Parts: sequence; C-alpha cells; structure tokens
Amino acid sequence: MLTGKTVLVGITGAIAAYKVCELIRLFKKNNANVKVVVTPNALNFVTKTTLESLSQNPVDIEQFDIKEYKPEHIALTDESDIFVIAPASANTIAKMTFGICDNLLTSTFCAYKKQVVIAPCMNTNMWENPAVEQNLEVLKKRGIKVVEPETGFLACGTNGKGRLADVNVIYETVKNCLIPKQILKGKKVVITAGGTKENIDAVRYIGNYSSGKMGIALADNAYRLGADVVLISTVDADKKYKVINVQTAQEMYETVQEEFKTADSLIMAAAVSDYRVKNKSEHKIKKDGNSLVIELVENPDILKEMSKIKRENQIVVGFCAESQNLLENAKAKISKKQCDYICANDISRKDTGFSSNYNELYIINKELDIYHIEKTDKQSAAIQILEKIYGKS
Ligand code: CTP
Repeated sequence: MLTGKTVLVGITGAIAAYKVCELIRLFKKNNANVKVVVTPNALNFVTKTTLESLSQNPVDIEQFDIKEYKPEHIALTDESDIFVIAPASANTIAKMTFGICDNLLTSTFCAYKKQVVIAPCMNTNMWENPAVEQNLEVLKKRGIKVVEPETGFLACGTNGKGRLADVNVIYETVKNCLIPKQILKGKKVVITAGGTKENIDAVRYIGNYSSGKMGIALADNAYRLGADVVLISTVDADKKYKVINVQTAQEMYETVQEEFKTADSLIMAAAVSDYRVKNKSEHKIKKDGNSLVIELVENPDILKEMSKIKRENQIVVGFCAESQNLLENAKAKISKKQCDYICANDISRKDTGFSSNYNELYIINKELDIYHIEKTDKQSAAIQILEKIYGKS
C-alpha cells in the first residue's frame, strides 16, 4: 500500500520505544521504505541492531555525521515523505515547540517541511502538566498531527492517560496522511485563486494584494482528496490538474460560468475586483499636468451569480475578507450572496491572510452556524475547510 513512500521514524527515550519495532514492521509489511532516526536516550530502550534489522537501513544517531557533503538531518528530510515521531517524550515535544536542535532528531524536525505526526507517551502527571499541554497546542496549530496517547496501565505502575497509542492507530494516521481518503473522488471542484487585475491602459492596472496561496492550497488538497480540480487563477501555477489562467474579473466570470456547468462544487477563493475601468485606454496614458479621473463600473459578482443559478446538489463556497466586524459582515455576506458556505478571515492582521502563509478562519453555513479554524498554515487550513464542507469519509 505504501509502495514508493519513505517513512522517517523518530524514536525518543521512552519505555514505549520497544513498541515502535512493531510499527516499523507494519510500514515494511506495507512496502514502505523506512529510515530511522533516534535520540541518544532512545538507545537505552531499544538497540541500533534491532532497528537496523527491522528497517533494513542504517540507523542515524550522530548529528555531525556528514555523508557526501550533505548534513545528515538535511539528507533525512529530503529522502522521506513523512516524519513520525513515536514515542514522543515530553522533553522532545518541548524542544520541537521551541526549535531546539541539540540532537539529530530535533535538528531533522526543525528542518522538516513535510507532514509530521507525533505519538506522545509519558507518565499521566507529565501528560497533564500545563507546559506539555500548551506545547502540544502550539504544535497542533503549526499543522503537526498528534496521535493522542491511550489511558491504561503505565510502565511506571500507575493507571491513567499517557500510554503510547496502539501502533495500528499510528500506522493508520500516517497512511491517511500519505494516501488520504479519496472523499472527493468523482467530484469536479472548480476553485478560483489570486487577485484580479483590471486594466487602466496598456501598462497599468488596478489590483490587490492577494497572493493566491489559499486558493492554490485548496486546489492542491482537493486534488489529493481525489477531486477532478479546475483551478482558475490569476497567479501562474504548474500543476498536475487543470489550471486556467485569467486576469480580469470578466475573464474569471466567463471561465467560471463555463466550468461550473459540469461542476459539483465551486470555491471562490479569489479576490475579485468589484470594479473595472469604464474606458480603458489601448495606449499608455501620458501625463498632461492635470489630474486624471478614471471612471469605474461594477464587475459582475461571480459568487452571487453562481449561487443564483446553482443546481440543488451543487455546493458553492465563498470567502470573505474583512478588516473589521468580521463575523457580522460574514453573516450579512452569506445572506446577500446566498452561497452555501462562507470562509471568513480578518485581513487587518499582519500574521494571517493575504500574502501570509498562515490563516485563521471561520466557516459559516446558511443556518449561520460558525466553525472556527484556529491559526494554522494554509495547507492545513485548506484540509480543514475541505473536510468540514465535504465530510471526512
Ligand atoms: N466575489 C466575486 N465577485 C466579485 C467580488 C467578490 O465572486 N465581483 C467573491 C469573492 O471571490 C469572495 C466573496 O465574493 O468569495 C467575497 O468577497 P469580498 O471581497 O469579501 O466581498 P465583496 O463582495 O467585495 O463585498 P464588500 O466589498 O461589500 O466587502
């Protein structure tokens, strides 16, 4: 099942380290290539020979073991598709939160840009410590998946929460990240991205600061979930799915109209200009010492128009970028535009929205129920939006 995938398994110093031998075996049984990185303390619980025999790969421990001019932690990040840290001790969780790189495992984590899954394991009192709780909250917000520990008999003799999750549960979580459930299989999803540009003359335009990152993240993840994606974008994107480049709101409108006919869903993540220049000049406008007056006329509201003509089984999702009274304006917008969902975000914040890699959103449905997506990277926000709208299975 995992043919062609490389799983990097990180083991920290906790008694449950021995259970991870079974996890490695599960990955191998399902044809994954497995690389292992351990903290020095992990070797108090499980031997290098065991891990090398099970993974059929050399096990990395040394921070400064540079092979072929590539530092080991960078080589490990390049070679693998996912990083699963199990068991993750309270100590390593704290280091991950604060970016401490004092061993090969923590340095690898710090350089890791792909999905990380952690399975914490510790004594119940440690698990309940506010520092551990807060560190895990921070990591979750950064998009790290946490497989919660189980409640039961612990090696320290107590009974409570902190026992490493069943290795089958950890395996399933990793598998779902690598091969997500195809919840959008057979569905055509049209997504718009980027800010439209309205020409003033041959060289100038009226635009906005939208980077297109949110729309592209939605398109990438809808594709991963099996959708037949059409991305209508003002930003160039070289993708495995269909991308149609447009520039103006009018071009976007015409393209959306055409693609929506055969679509199951439309997500309007683009920042569409509300106005265009009435009489745009074919040639570059020259200054003549007088003030320049440009008359603007309203553009079609693509979201509103598509919501009007949508068939009952088509889902239309809008975005709502506000700099004040976010929820109030978002609720008014869903009533005005009659779409099925609105994803609202506050663009006055410097740390989220527009050109940032992060977003914090509220999804509102027609009944005006509100679902909050906490600040996270746009990839993770996109997955949460798609799962909320189309269901998890
Ligand atoms: N939208 C659209 N066509 C337009 C303007 C906006 O389809 N001409 C869509 C956007 O893609 C987004 C939603 O409408 O999904 C809300 O956009 P926003 O700019 O927040 O709202 P506006 O309609 O411009 O309303 P206002 O200017 O009053 O805030």
